[in-house]
Amino acid sequence: MADVTLRNVRKQFGTFVALEKLDIDIRSGEFVALLGPSGCGKSTTLRMLAGLEFPTSGEISIGGRVVNDVAPGKRDIAMVFQSYALYPHMTVGENIEYPLKKRGVKATERKAAVLRAAEMLQLEPLLDRKPKQLSGGQQQRVALGRALVRDPQVFLLDEPLSNLDAKLRSYMRAELIELHRRLGKTMVYVTHDQLEAMTMASRIAVMFDGRLQQFDTPAAVYNRPANRFVASFIGTPSMNQLEGAVDGSTFRVAGHAIPIDRSRFVHALGSGTFVLGVRPEFVTIGGGDLPARIRLVENTGHEQIVTLELTDGTRLLARTDAARRLDVGQSVQIGFHPDALHLFAPEETGRRLNKDDAASVIPMRSR
Ligand SMILES: Nc1ncnc2c1ncn2[C@@H]1O[C@H](COP(=O)(O)OP(=O)(O)OP(=O)(O)O)[C@@H](O)[C@H]1O
Ligand SMILES: [Mg+2]
Repeated sequence: MADVTLRNVRKQFGTFVALEKLDIDIRSGEFVALLGPSGCGKSTTLRMLAGLEFPTSGEISIGGRVVNDVAPGKRDIAMVFQSYALYPHMTVGENIEYPLKKRGVKATERKAAVLRAAEMLQLEPLLDRKPKQLSGGQQQRVALGRALVRDPQVFLLDEPLSNLDAKLRSYMRAELIELHRRLGKTMVYVTHDQLEAMTMASRIAVMFDGRLQQFDTPAAVYNRPANRFVASFIGTPSMNQLEGAVDGSTFRVAGHAIPIDRSRFVHALGSGTFVLGVRPEFVTIGGGDLPARIRLVENTGHEQIVTLELTDGTRLLARTDAARRLDVGQSVQIGFHPDALHLFAPEETGRRLNKDDAASVIPMRSR
């Protein structure tokens, strides 16, 4: 069993608070992504799990054991860094073998373990090469191999694919998913790439500004983002967020009233400014009653991302079929799918105000 738990963890560097009130429960065998923008505290969290950094307060446990005072080497974890940190003077085989040698494992066992890891990562033909004779993706696989041979309870990976080109990254993404499936080990994976988090993780911990914003499945963070930050960080292009006022059963924006179903939102809305959220796939061009002008059409081959401007200058995005004929400058009437509306409190991390029963889950994609 290798559950990983952070309990009310706080981390300060001098007077700077890098992490606050961090509570995360990772189940044994789970693949969890720590996702968030640069500087939000992802690496610091991972380094604390590894024992390379110590919490200012709070408790960290691995496999039911509090490890706050346990040295990195005694935590039964293996960490893979963004920079591969391979030893340049050693061959691929020696690099992979090194952690076992350090641990005093017998030579025959070491050789067998290296071969097993090399086979799993398709590194056998490269075992005698030096790191500088390898591509970035191959070096990354060696770094993974070095973590694999240690057969740890928990793998900690810090942006392991960020140095690779797009094609290799998507290849390695699939490889890692497969590896996790085969090994069944707990994996904590740091990334600022939401696509990686969405496709690889069973649950995503979305972080911002040293705080956990939401910890849930990819479908839940997409369909029921806890707040405005999560709503804008998850999904490409981002969810549209329009500032306006709730007035009875309408939301007023740009001098127009958009009908909303109040029963879908928390009762005590009160009055004042709110933010209406709608993903670009749920904005329909034509058929609605909100006047807008087309400002930009970006055709990606299989779809078009359309930039629309409301009469007060507010811009929003719609996603439509690639085949549809749309012209820049054209006046259109737009509408929003009524079941796909989110309402948020106005501040940057303003809470989502929808009532959240399972039935309110919006399909990931529909047009
Ligand atoms: N040793 C340190 N001393 C002082 N501040 C630090 C130290 N390590 C990290 N920080 C600060 O803590 C915050 C979180 O850093 P961290 O490296 O965890 O961010 P991150 O989410 O991994 O970002 P990135 O995506 O850029 O890697 C940052 O503001 C960073 O400047
Ligand atoms: Mg980092």
